[in-house]
Amino acid sequence: MPPSKGAGNSGTPSRPSGRGMRVKLKTAKGRKKSSARWLERQLNDTYVTEAARSGYRSRAAWKLAQIDDKFHILKPNARVVDLGAAPGGWTQVAVQRIGRSGHVVAVDIVEMESVPGAEILQLDMREEDGVAALKEFLADPVDVLLSDMAASATGHRGTDRMRAEALCEVAHELACELLTPGGVLVVKAFHGGGESDLMNAMKKNFARVRTFKPDASRADSAETYIVAAGYRRKVS
Ligand SMILES: C[S@@+](CC[C@H](N)C(=O)[O-])C[C@H]1O[C@@H](n2cnc3c(N)ncnc32)[C@H](O)[C@@H]1O
Repeated sequence: MPPSKGAGNSGTPSRPSGRGMRVKLKTAKGRKKSSARWLERQLNDTYVTEAARSGYRSRAAWKLAQIDDKFHILKPNARVVDLGAAPGGWTQVAVQRIGRSGHVVAVDIVEMESVPGAEILQLDMREEDGVAALKEFLADPVDVLLSDMAASATGHRGTDRMRAEALCEVAHELACELLTPGGVLVVKAFHGGGESDLMNAMKKNFARVRTFKPDASRADSAETYIVAAGYRRKVS
């Protein structure tokens, strides 16, 4: 269980506290240069090392903590759905911040280890069956829909962009079906991945739509988050 310390909402830390010594790999022997670079970056990434030290399942946990510090979306007692939840960093933060009387349902296409305080569903959100199963499970509207869903990269830019856009659209569609009036959607998007079209579509359904790149999101990544608050109703 991650610790309850630091400056975040409900005592959840939202920034790593320490900076370790920089690790330099002496040789890339037996490794491709690209994997040596990746390993060196991981070893020197404070968010990665502190996530492991703090008991978070992923460095992504810090991203949600920082989004919540900025927008205050994870309120005590909230009902939260976390899409693309594995390995579970966001789920851990959501459970910590909404407290015992809240409700977190974590969904991923891959199997995910349980997180105390959350319910886990293994479903594909691109499939009608997956969406139907989630709706049936929830029965009532939710206050917050989180989507950190990301498809694994194919290496083909056009294909990857289309797949990312499709997941954003799925999250938006679902938000319009699952959210209670006034509810909030947080969705991972990518610069150059149709995020302005998506934001325009969201503005029809939400009172406030903003983009935010948390400090924990790597500066060289095109990733950004769209935070849409004040759900009104679906306008097609
Ligand atoms: C960046 S990871 C999420 C990290 C997570 N938020 C955390 O804090 O640990 C993206 C996740 O999206 C999931 N995903 C991708 N496509 C999906 C789909 N169609 N339905 C459900 N989950 C999906 C992947 O399996 C992957 O676990």
